[in-house]
Amino acid sequence: MNTQSMEAKHELLVQGFIEKGYYVSTDFFDAHFIEKLRADLKLLIPEFHRAGIGSWQDHIVEGTIRRDEVLWIDQETSDATGEFLRRMEELKDYLNYTCYAGINGSEFHYARYPKGAFYKKHVDSFKSNNDRLFTVVLYLNETNWQPSDGGHLKMYLPEGEQLIEPQGGKIVFFKSDEIEHEVLPANRERLSVTGWFRKSEVGIISNGI
Ligand code: OGA
Ligand code: MN
Repeated sequence: MNTQSMEAKHELLVQGFIEKGYYVSTDFFDAHFIEKLRADLKLLIPEFHRAGIGSWQDHIVEGTIRRDEVLWIDQETSDATGEFLRRMEELKDYLNYTCYAGINGSEFHYARYPKGAFYKKHVDSFKSNNDRLFTVVLYLNETNWQPSDGGHLKMYLPEGEQLIEPQGGKIVFFKSDEIEHEVLPANRERLSVTGWFRKSEVGIISNGI
């Protein structure tokens, strides 16, 4: 993919975000790359652990609020994962350059919702650690995801509720501390890579849970 088309994609994301407060796209990444990321995720499933709530100081695993399993990722994991993180760095640079976003950290995890799993209504910033600026979710499901498979992302927007189907390859971007959202119960295994761009005032970036 050439640089210019990437810049055009970044620009669409920023425009959508400014107009509506969130952005959804199905062609931010090509299908082949999504397959490689899905393969990476699947290899790593044995290392996943149940996700908790709260920042690392007051982290608890609470099965009535969320039932997903996650694995925090970093540059070393593999080629495709490394490429994904580099692409997120480019997006971060673009947001800082064009929107003066002031992002100085990021964190990403793979997520797996086993059949029946959900994540109740929440915002993505913690009481004790409120420095998440933007949320990115990239779905890594097969493209044959059906409405009856559930697992929709439900966003509570000022203009009403919006349901987003987690089709493989779809990316969702929104402001972490403003948009309340939830993941409805998935009727089949639901895969994604999810992360946050942060602005840390103290300069200490805690990396995940
Ligand atoms: C989260 C979250 C949404 C999704 O991990 O905080 O809200 O659609 N994920 O997976
Ligand atoms: Mn969330």
